[in-house]
Amino acid sequence: MRLGLRHTAQGLCRRVKPLQCERQAAGFDLMIFANSYSERWFSFFHAGIAESRTVQEVDFICACAPFPGFRKVLDVCCGMGRHARALCSSGYSVTGVERDTAAIGRARELAGGPNYIQADVRDYQPEASAYDLAIIMSQSFGYFDDATNRDLLRRLGMGVREGGRVILDLWNLEFFVTHQGERKFDLPDGIVRERKWVEDGRLFVHLDYPDGGSDDFEWQLFTSAQMTSLADSVGLALMVSCTDFDMRTEPSPAKPRIQFVLERRSA
Ligand SMILES: C[S@@+](CC[C@H](N)C(=O)[O-])C[C@H]1O[C@@H](n2cnc3c(N)ncnc32)[C@H](O)[C@@H]1O
Repeated sequence: MRLGLRHTAQGLCRRVKPLQCERQAAGFDLMIFANSYSERWFSFFHAGIAESRTVQEVDFICACAPFPGFRKVLDVCCGMGRHARALCSSGYSVTGVERDTAAIGRARELAGGPNYIQADVRDYQPEASAYDLAIIMSQSFGYFDDATNRDLLRRLGMGVREGGRVILDLWNLEFFVTHQGERKFDLPDGIVRERKWVEDGRLFVHLDYPDGGSDDFEWQLFTSAQMTSLADSVGLALMVSCTDFDMRTEPSPAKPRIQFVLERRSA
């Protein structure tokens, strides 16, 4: 599908679909234009995530913030709540925040203990020091411009107590710089074609689905040095950067994912 360029409310020039431009012109909610995870995306890439992947990720979270020293967890951009449910079953008390109506509806149906709040993360302000831990899993950070990303991290940091932690599971910029271009996902419901590219530290992804539909995503990515500096600017300290959900494994340009564990400093 042809892509257009348009300035958004955030001052960024994004690649958007013509239909989206029309909706923007008609005054629809601006949030539909970038990083809006479609029903197709949830069906192809989220609903069928293997239990083993969730277990590995949750084991990592539990190792970084062990219960009961860390009890109250905020799961930011929680999707259908796979981490939230698993953490509740280990004793944590979890609140999930998610914008997508269908995803949060499914999370509520699946129940299992978490409390859910439907909100755009940009509008969500946790109470000061309300949580012991905030988690942002599967590249759910970096959607916005620098100031908005920073402000989000600041608010999440203020939402955890002193000594509380923030875990970010993100894409590794160094990997994607050398893995741009096209590939196909041969999935049970058909082939999804992906095109991705990096510009000025942002990763852009365009997906074409078998029925002709498409999605566009983009994220600001962070090296360990950039995350150290961002965290520092909002009162958080980088404790760990690693990959493979293993605190002992250094991030590597050969690995697509990177995990950061931040800790809120004392005032
Ligand atoms: C890649 S999925 C990750 C879901 C979940 N964290 C996981 O690992 O399974 C990203 C999620 O972020 C949500 N999301 C994206 N932008 C958001 C925003 N501005 N506010 C709240 N949720 C948002 C999407 O709806 C989607 O559920």
